[in-house]
Amino acid sequence: MQVAVIILAAGKGKRMHSELPKVLHRILGRSMLSYVLDAASELKTFRTVVVTGHGSSQVKEQLNGKGLRFAYQGEQLGTGHAVLCARKLLANYQGDVLIINGDTPLICKETINDFTTRHKDSKSVLSILSTVLDEPEGYGRISRSSRGDIKKVVEEKDATAKEKQISEINAGVYCVDSAFLWNALENLNPNNVQHEYYLPDIVDFAINSGENVNAVMTRHSDEVLGVNTRAELAAVETKLRNRKNNRLMDGGVTIIDPSSTYITPDVRIGVDTVIYPNAHILGDCSIGWGCEIGPSVWIEDSVIGHNVLIRFNCHIVKASISNYVSVGPFANLRPETVVHSKAKIGSFVEIKKSNIGHGSKVPHLSYVGDASVGEGVNIGAGTITCNYDGFSKHKTVIDDNAFIGSDTMLVAPVRVGKGATTGAGSTITKDVPEGSLAVERSKQVEIKGWSRKPKKSKA
Ligand code: UD1
Ligand code: CA
Repeated sequence: MQVAVIILAAGKGKRMHSELPKVLHRILGRSMLSYVLDAASELKTFRTVVVTGHGSSQVKEQLNGKGLRFAYQGEQLGTGHAVLCARKLLANYQGDVLIINGDTPLICKETINDFTTRHKDSKSVLSILSTVLDEPEGYGRISRSSRGDIKKVVEEKDATAKEKQISEINAGVYCVDSAFLWNALENLNPNNVQHEYYLPDIVDFAINSGENVNAVMTRHSDEVLGVNTRAELAAVETKLRNRKNNRLMDGGVTIIDPSSTYITPDVRIGVDTVIYPNAHILGDCSIGWGCEIGPSVWIEDSVIGHNVLIRFNCHIVKASISNYVSVGPFANLRPETVVHSKAKIGSFVEIKKSNIGHGSKVPHLSYVGDASVGEGVNIGAGTITCNYDGFSKHKTVIDDNAFIGSDTMLVAPVRVGKGATTGAGSTITKDVPEGSLAVERSKQVEIKGWSRKPKKSKA
């Protein structure tokens, strides 16, 4: 079954008190809108139209290149008016239109797929997704006849005291025949408390035109939570986080304290990996099996192999780490760091845009930037690759099995050959040939009988 999709995302989100358009607020590192788009991603779509208004250029910029079309709603005259703004972009389309509010990021693919199938089976011109909430305040209520047929949707602000007691609410998801939709929208009027063109009023219109309306009630009431305030944003984030953590645990990952573990939806983690509290694992990350991660780590857009140990307080961004590596505590691995298998990155080490070869060690207090480090290399404590001369960055090459003495300054561009050694405290400015020792420091002098002068007494 093919549908056209309209996502409503033009509202300012007044209750957020924000400069940012509501639908761009981030949940676990991704915009609210991206979750809604995901929910419709399994459908066969004719076209997906996002209706933008507030912060329209920002919204478009974020969604650029995703094959979407954008309709512009200059003035926010209501959800019904917003849908009408998408009409031009669907002028030569006939069939069902799926409409989703852009501020319901918990809605799942399965629910959307099931809803559209049930719409098709019902042969109605209009289906609307509903659910029952313990706290329905703020939502449009589904008003039904004594026979149980849907009559209309009443917005909270327009509802009578009796209607406010209804606990079945409108989820903000609709499937509707295009010809009926455009006709119904043209017949909307803003005779309500908010003086807006309400999309749910098409229910009323359908019934008055003698059409069947199919209200599909979902049991998954936690999927319909709309985000209107920052508190709701936080509540939705917690739900999405739990959803992800539960999926990982079901798949064989140990999470010591799910309530303090922040893992974004696209992260992949292998079995028997243990995640300690306060781990942030974000974006496009994959972590293999049998790893120990944390506590208190930040890992973003990185690939981590199997049996890797990431200790306390590491910060890892756009890095790639192979099997059996240990990192930290307190290590900072910056973009384009590649650590090969069985290497060790120790405490207070910063690495940027560098390769660390198989089995090599950078155990303590070093900066390695723009470097290529071979296999079996040992880098002594306090070593620095001096990669920047104030104008440009230069490369350091350290070949296999070299031994870099503690506190070596490697002034790039420079190369330390295979098996070569540098003496502790040396400032290396020239290439060190294979197998040789480079020492750069003044000779130690001993001054016999020298002692510090005793302090003069004040008296
Ligand atoms: C809406 C529904 C309500 C439902 C609830 C579910 C209406 C009138 N009411 O209420 O029945 O229970 O969603 O969450 O539809 N938008 C536009 N242009 C506008 C107005 C809104 O694009 O002129 C967009 C918003 O950006 C938002 C969505 O439509 O993504 C819903 O708007 P919102 O103002 O949040 O509606 P609710 O009051 O939550
Ligand atoms: Ca809303």
